[in-house]
Amino acid sequence: MYETNIKGIEEIVKENEEWRSGCINLIASENVTSKRVRKAMASDLMHRYAEGHPGERYYRGTGYIDRIETGLKEKMKKLFSADNVDVRPICGTNANQAIFGVYTKTSDIAFVNSTPGGGHISHHKSGNLGMLITNIKDLPLTEDGYHIDIEDTKSLVNRIKPKILVLGKSLFLFPEPIKELEDVCKENKVKIIYDAAHVLGLIAGKQFQDPLSEGADIITGSTHKTFFGTQRGVILSNVNKKEWSKIDKGAFPGSSSNHHLDTLAGLAIATNEMLEFGEEYAKQTIANAKSLAVSLDKYGFNVQAKQFGYTMSHQIAVDVAEHKGGNEVSKNLEKNDIIINMNLLPDEEVNKAKIPKGIRIGVQEMTRFGMKEPEMEIIAELIKKCIIDEAHIKEEVNKFRDNFQNIEYSHDN
Ligand SMILES: Cc1ncc(COP(=O)(O)O)c(C=O)c1O
Repeated sequence: MYETNIKGIEEIVKENEEWRSGCINLIASENVTSKRVRKAMASDLMHRYAEGHPGERYYRGTGYIDRIETGLKEKMKKLFSADNVDVRPICGTNANQAIFGVYTKTSDIAFVNSTPGGGHISHHKSGNLGMLITNIKDLPLTEDGYHIDIEDTKSLVNRIKPKILVLGKSLFLFPEPIKELEDVCKENKVKIIYDAAHVLGLIAGKQFQDPLSEGADIITGSTHKTFFGTQRGVILSNVNKKEWSKIDKGAFPGSSSNHHLDTLAGLAIATNEMLEFGEEYAKQTIANAKSLAVSLDKYGFNVQAKQFGYTMSHQIAVDVAEHKGGNEVSKNLEKNDIIINMNLLPDEEVNKAKIPKGIRIGVQEMTRFGMKEPEMEIIAELIKKCIIDEAHIKEEVNKFRDNFQNIEYSHDN
């Protein structure tokens, strides 16, 4: 049923807010923002336009916006040790679009992570990249499915000479082999584009690989998964001025015009929070992911990549084929206020995307609400009760979640 009445819509918004505050959200691509970030978003800035760069706008009335944007860029450069940053993409897909448009022309070849291998749709035939080129090849994986096969990739790069190599993915458990592929890419003039949408906050917190120092030419990313929000995108790079000027045009006017100034101000505050709390947060997030993996394994779940310690990121992957697959499991959990997404696993066919055997779990949001290892053990037990014992646990979930309502790693409290 849809709602047309204003009061009715307001009621839905409120109900969603209340319901969400009782849920355990384990969607790996989401996070929550601090009160101060939200306050900045709910301001006059949401009405404004500011195309171009601070001090060189195509609009008047942007003085305050210019101050926010200039400060944000400086802080991003510091966080990622990057000479150049563009904070205007309004999401990660938009950042990818800007870059793909600059680095590819119709006849070019790209290497990307496949969909079952964890790659994102914007890298694929039906997404951003596919709208520019048709020759998109999947990177070879090692037998476990969670790592790129370095030797095979090297020989493919030497033989096929793609224009770009896109690293980074949506099911992202372990660092990518940037260092290992850097030389072969340089020799063949292949640009390494690292999509950090999922792991941007872990990189900022210095707990994951450092793509630019390891040899990536460009980082793109979303600012709201492991980063502290708001929902936007970013491009970072140390390429020379001439090359950066092309990327600059890719971001504007190439892939966006106005760039949503309410979320810009929110991101500026979130970036300050990252500078102050990012390291502690990223450490705890990864520790929580490992802890949840160990506990789920203990309950008999088929947690993936056990031989590699399950994960080095905020995510874990679980094969739930024996529990009727990812679709059923995610629906049953949702009925009990635990929210996760179903996910293809690397050894599945892409046509199984709506009935995959896997689930993907991310702990970054619950970590932001202050949960630590003991709480991960409780979450694993709740999942076990729901999926293995087929028990109704909604009230237990809500009661547990009641104790975690503040946004930590912020100055909210
Ligand atoms: C690897 C990767 N790249 C890009 C994106 C797109 O990000 P956004 O939703 O900010 O457009 C995602 C989204 O989940 C992703 O996982």
